[in-house]
Amino acid sequence: MSQLVANYTPREIVSELDRYIVGQNRAKRAVAIALRNRWRRQQVSDELREEIVPKNIIMIGPTGVGKTEIARRLSRLAQAPFIKVEASKFTEVGYVGRDVESMIRDLAEVAVQMLRAEQVERVQVRAKEHAEERLVDLLAKKHRDGSADDREQHQIVGPFFVSPQGEVSGQRADEDEVNAIRAKLRSGQLDQENIELDVAEGATPLVSVFGGHGLEEMEIQLKDMLSNLPGFKNKKKRRKLKVKDARRMLEEEEAQKLVDMDQVTRDAITRTEQSGIVFLDEIDKVVGRPGAHTGPDVSREGVQRDLLPIVEGSTVNTKYGTVKTDHILFIAAGAFHVAKVSDLVPELQGRFPIRVELDSLGKDDFIRILTEPKNALTRQYQALMSTEGITLQFTERAIDEIAGYAASANNRAENIGARRLHTVMEALLEELSFGASERSDAIVTIDADDVRKTLEPIVNDEDLAKYIL
Ligand SMILES: Nc1ncnc2c1ncn2[C@@H]1O[C@H](COP(=O)(O)OP(=O)(O)OP(=O)(O)O)[C@@H](O)[C@H]1O
Ligand SMILES: [Mg+2]
Repeated sequence: MSQLVANYTPREIVSELDRYIVGQNRAKRAVAIALRNRWRRQQVSDELREEIVPKNIIMIGPTGVGKTEIARRLSRLAQAPFIKVEASKFTEVGYVGRDVESMIRDLAEVAVQMLRAEQVERVQVRAKEHAEERLVDLLAKKHRDGSADDREQHQIVGPFFVSPQGEVSGQRADEDEVNAIRAKLRSGQLDQENIELDVAEGATPLVSVFGGHGLEEMEIQLKDMLSNLPGFKNKKKRRKLKVKDARRMLEEEEAQKLVDMDQVTRDAITRTEQSGIVFLDEIDKVVGRPGAHTGPDVSREGVQRDLLPIVEGSTVNTKYGTVKTDHILFIAAGAFHVAKVSDLVPELQGRFPIRVELDSLGKDDFIRILTEPKNALTRQYQALMSTEGITLQFTERAIDEIAGYAASANNRAENIGARRLHTVMEALLEELSFGASERSDAIVTIDADDVRKTLEPIVNDEDLAKYIL
């Protein structure tokens, strides 16, 4: 089996995260270590490996400082099945809503997709060959008869095509002909030609009606039942396609045939168990107020209790088989404004031994966030404006001012962290965005004065500031 876990060192992980997230070094280090420990565990002898359980993490920090962002970026690095779920979306077993076990089912689903994609990658070359042969045959048939009939179902016997009823339905193109067509096909000369093809129809959307109502088990069974009904599974539809599109479809179809789905599901279960990561966002939202023993708080505590066995290690049924959760890594995050970590049910606190606090962000961080990350906001706006033929520039002083306004807006109103930059930038560039399509100047430079002129009136008018910034 391929390697279960990516083997980035903690330093490499942190430096990768650094490209997108400013500061928050402790949180980055914690997740980097956790990720590396998955790899370390794989290297340990069998018996000890079973004993080593993941050290789950809680990230604590105000809103908009990068908790979710860290998780998102980590998932790209992890090369492991990863899902992010909102703890607040779950309801206690027995109530209407998603039960907590569904996250493990989703994780297994992610793993299956992942492994399937890997398998498809591996059979790519053979799939391409098979697809080409089918295309050549279709084209040869078409060139001979002037049309392509449903030869797809016909078998090739010697030089003949034989229908499912056993009748000879045509003669196969001779070798020279086939070779000529193959050569043309390879050179791309036939790309624009039309051929007819039987295409499998997409999955039936019927079942999604049940989604999110705690009826997932039923949904799973229904889906399986339906896909086993004749006529539901291999439903095909004849379509006319350009050769180059047909080639893509055929490659996909051939790859599908070559992938051993049993192997994929078996491996997916192992990978989910050995390297799966669940990011539990908004964990503080399932904390009941201390002393409240009625109403929604009871149910929230119920969610925590349902979470316990999963975090601690239990077995969850999925449509791919049972998944043991003992070694799945959980990273929880929450603002913990009102509730504290100590308000979580004690058993759950114990399952998350690593706590990291994220720092709230100030003006200096904002300056860096505006300019440094690969996906920095200023770069996003520049890219958007360049589509209108405008080169957008910000002077250093302008960035300084923008960061300053964002920081002071956070001080005066609610502190929404780096999210404030979005509202400030939007307010600042509103006029440019609106008029950009009609402008004739090629370069627009935003300097400190522009920033002040636009933002000062908004900041000074308290009502205006409240809903714009
Ligand atoms: N330290 C940071 N560096 C770069 N960008 C950041 C940072 N913190 C936040 N951002 C940006 O701010 C936005 C919100 O961040 P994120 O979603 O991570 O917040 P959060 O900490 O999960 O908040 P919440 O508690 O509300 O969920 C994102 O667009 C993110 O790119
Ligand atoms: Mg978040």
